[in-house]
Amino acid sequence: MPAPATPSRIAHAAFAAKVMDADAAAALIAPGMAVGMSGFTGAGYPKAVPQALARRIEAAHARGDAFAIKVWTGASTGPELDGALARAHGIDFRLPYNSDPIAREQINAGTMEYVDMHLSQVAPMCWQGYLGPLDVALVEVSAILPDGSVVPSSSVGNNKTWLDRADHVILEVNRWQNAALEGMHDIYYGTALPPYRVPIPLVRPQDRIGQPTFRVDPAKVVAVVETDTPDRNAPFKEPDAAAHGIAGHLIEFLRHEVAMGRLPQGLLPLQSGVGNIANAVLHGLMDAPFDPMTAYTEVLQDGMLELLEAGKLSMASATAFSLSPDAAERLNGDLHRFRDRIILRPQEISNHPELVRRLGCIAMNGMIEADIYGNVNSTHLMGSRIQNGIGGSGDFARNASISIFMAPSTAKGGAISTIVPQVSHVDHINQDVAVIVTEQGLADLRGLAPKQRAEQVIAHCVHPAFRDQLSDYYARALRESWGRHTPVLLDEALSWHRRFVQTGSMRG
Ligand code: COA
Repeated sequence: MPAPATPSRIAHAAFAAKVMDADAAAALIAPGMAVGMSGFTGAGYPKAVPQALARRIEAAHARGDAFAIKVWTGASTGPELDGALARAHGIDFRLPYNSDPIAREQINAGTMEYVDMHLSQVAPMCWQGYLGPLDVALVEVSAILPDGSVVPSSSVGNNKTWLDRADHVILEVNRWQNAALEGMHDIYYGTALPPYRVPIPLVRPQDRIGQPTFRVDPAKVVAVVETDTPDRNAPFKEPDAAAHGIAGHLIEFLRHEVAMGRLPQGLLPLQSGVGNIANAVLHGLMDAPFDPMTAYTEVLQDGMLELLEAGKLSMASATAFSLSPDAAERLNGDLHRFRDRIILRPQEISNHPELVRRLGCIAMNGMIEADIYGNVNSTHLMGSRIQNGIGGSGDFARNASISIFMAPSTAKGGAISTIVPQVSHVDHINQDVAVIVTEQGLADLRGLAPKQRAEQVIAHCVHPAFRDQLSDYYARALRESWGRHTPVLLDEALSWHRRFVQTGSMRG
């Protein structure tokens, strides 16, 4: 093995004794095992052992031997993990959130089983034993300290749970991760199962309630692998006209809420979802008159870093970084400046319903489509093909003080309306959806009955190319629907989706 470029970060003898290369570590993972891997939106995932394991799986397949594992993660990871293992056909079961295109194809082809779970529920379900035994924890960390405690890397995710619950532990110690990450994490060890649960003592986003490092039983550690490889997050798209439009309507709405005295001048802690639109909204907040804001969110993306740099955001609590390569470089170059203003926590705490409700987060998440009554589909195209997964959107939507969903009013180059009579799959029931925003406008649905909601959504959110069609459908539904509480013409509502398959616009 080549000599490390920088001094080793393994400062404890019991861990140092287990150092080996990635191939030797991968050889410890057997077919059929459940492996709890670190990783959350392209940050802090193991990079060397999954690729070595993929090579091992390919070799087994070439010999005619079956070899696949169960992969549990925090959320999505990078191409060296999901991409490499899926390409090798080495994953037969995956949870809880995926955005890798190769894994997505296999999930939708029906060859990879995929459990799409609320991200806050993974750790408690693991502790309860509902997910079955966990054979190995494979976790990237940034250092092992002299006292044997372990410094997390650029995401925390479910790592505390994997390290505690797994029979065996493999650590990747990544020297690329900034040494100044030490001290930024807040690992809470006070969770318990019912009936022993107690209130979580966090009342402000900036509260630290845990410790900066993971506890790891050295007796369980079977391998330690040193790496020096960057996280791989995709760059964000430049905000287009639709993203600017959505951001504009949303900021106007928040200004109005402040003016009405329903939100404080600095708003309430922000939660911002994944994707380009969410990032564009954060960018839009740079010029908004809200000061000083805070964030209690799942991922910290470029727009949030920008707000932190400008001092518009006083602090941000998350479970992971989700930064473009440029923003990651900027943060890494100046991490000391942000050390006291960024906290990374386990995802069961970053997304905890009790805390989201207590803090009154403003939840802003992307969607695939919404219906006129405000039910939201965040996950499935045409009701059956999963795009990514629900992620943390359900954790926040149900418990936020204002739950906002946003998307451009059309998809697939204008061929499809994202506002439909009835969604093809429901992730967020209308009771969990307060506001819908497209570039056309914003519908504030709070306190409205179904027909009132439909009028708002049709009037404000639908693209002009689809408004007459949807208004005509709704007018007939008002006259012909069997029940008049939530008027619907079931066959026609479904054909709304089918029509787009027939026109060919959903091909590919
Ligand atoms: N019908 C058909 N296809 C649609 C569609 C619709 N109504 N809406 C979007 N799509 C397609 C897009 O065309 C695109 O397909 P392509 O890759 O072939 O071009 C794909 O779905 C993704 O759409 P895009 O606009 O690029 O997505 P995005 O980056 O804005 O993300 C979600 C939108 C909903 C996929 C994303 O926000 C998500 O995964 N949400 C669930 C998880 C979540 O909210 N996490 C945050 C909680 S903290």
